[in-house]
Amino acid sequence: MKKPRDTFLSEIVAALSLMMDFSENRKLYHAWRVAILSEKLSQKLFPNYRTEMFYAGLLHDIGAISLPYHIVHYEKIEKPCKSSILFNHPQKSANIVKNLGFLFLASDIILDHHERWDGSGYPRGISGNDITLGGQILRISDTVDVLLRDNFTSLGNIKKKLLLQRGKEFSDKIYEAMEVTLDENDFFDNIISEESISQIVLKIMKNLTPPNMVPFESEMDEIVKVFADVIDAKHNYTAGHSKRVAIYTYNIAKALGIPEEQAKKLKVAGYLHDAGKVAIPRAILDKPGRLTMDEYKLIKNHPVFTMEIMSMIHCLKDMVIIAGSHHERYDGMGYPGRLSRDTIPLGGRIMAIADAYDAMTSERPYQNKRNSVEAKDILIKNSRSQFDPEIVKVAVKVLS
Ligand SMILES: [Fe+2]
Ligand SMILES: [Fe+2]
Ligand SMILES: [Fe+2]
Ligand SMILES: [Fe+2]
Repeated sequence: MKKPRDTFLSEIVAALSLMMDFSENRKLYHAWRVAILSEKLSQKLFPNYRTEMFYAGLLHDIGAISLPYHIVHYEKIEKPCKSSILFNHPQKSANIVKNLGFLFLASDIILDHHERWDGSGYPRGISGNDITLGGQILRISDTVDVLLRDNFTSLGNIKKKLLLQRGKEFSDKIYEAMEVTLDENDFFDNIISEESISQIVLKIMKNLTPPNMVPFESEMDEIVKVFADVIDAKHNYTAGHSKRVAIYTYNIAKALGIPEEQAKKLKVAGYLHDAGKVAIPRAILDKPGRLTMDEYKLIKNHPVFTMEIMSMIHCLKDMVIIAGSHHERYDGMGYPGRLSRDTIPLGGRIMAIADAYDAMTSERPYQNKRNSVEAKDILIKNSRSQFDPEIVKVAVKVLS
């Protein structure tokens, strides 16, 4: 029986990587498919590192989160390296994974995922077996998924395309292993069906040995901190927002007399409250002009996406509604549920204040930054309409 600490990392990584693959209103499953293919290939080629390969697959493109469009739209283009974000994303992804602290090998593997066997890849342009074996496995898995969505949906066509790249993009050995893998029983049919993708990912998560980790509590905090930065990187103006909301939420909760353990959980929920923004195209989040109705609707959906992400993480189940209600208003005019007064969970009412306070006191393109006193005045002024008046009374004493 696995403990929560063993499943937390895989669940949060799987949830975030799935939502990051949201494009044109649908989930692309790019990271999940690359993770499945990489783990499968590693059973043959790299059997002691299946865990690392699976995480490397899930996180390989996490550094591309600030691209205006989804990564797979660039990877179809033959020479993709005109954009510096694109060129740098293997390094960025590798750094993020290194910050998680216990997936060192996965980090080195990710760094190499756009290197090519003949040396024409990036970022380092290394060739042959100078490329980590894991990097080579990721490269071909990545290519298979990109081909899958590029009108080459039949297995025969994909194999033909792969054959053309043999000796260029990947070695004979890697090509042959992938060919055998794709031919195995129902494997190909399963990875193209969205329903079975979820089942396969869950099964792999259940069976893999978890990475060696430090004690649960500090580790959970460290992990969510890393992902809070990733979430904030989606948006031009929100650096540090998630962390500050987490801290404000914790401080207000403590001042209200909420027990330490619950307050700590609220802090984690604070780190993740805007996680749903990873599902919204950056072009909309950072649009300078007026938003269309549809764009506004999509932005207002981010708490719903946050709930979808958090409900995939077992030990945070009781935080789902709380994080999802940070844009509800006391008078019932908020979103997404138009909840009012104490139908909004207490944690959600606290987080709404933390979120608004940080938005007011940070530099944003559409407003003048306010100092702490001004922001608290606005909180008080909007008591009863936007915010719970009893919580505001306490919050203004601890916010600074
Ligand atoms: Fe990539
Ligand atoms: Fe990729
Ligand atoms: Fe939000
Ligand atoms: Fe927020």
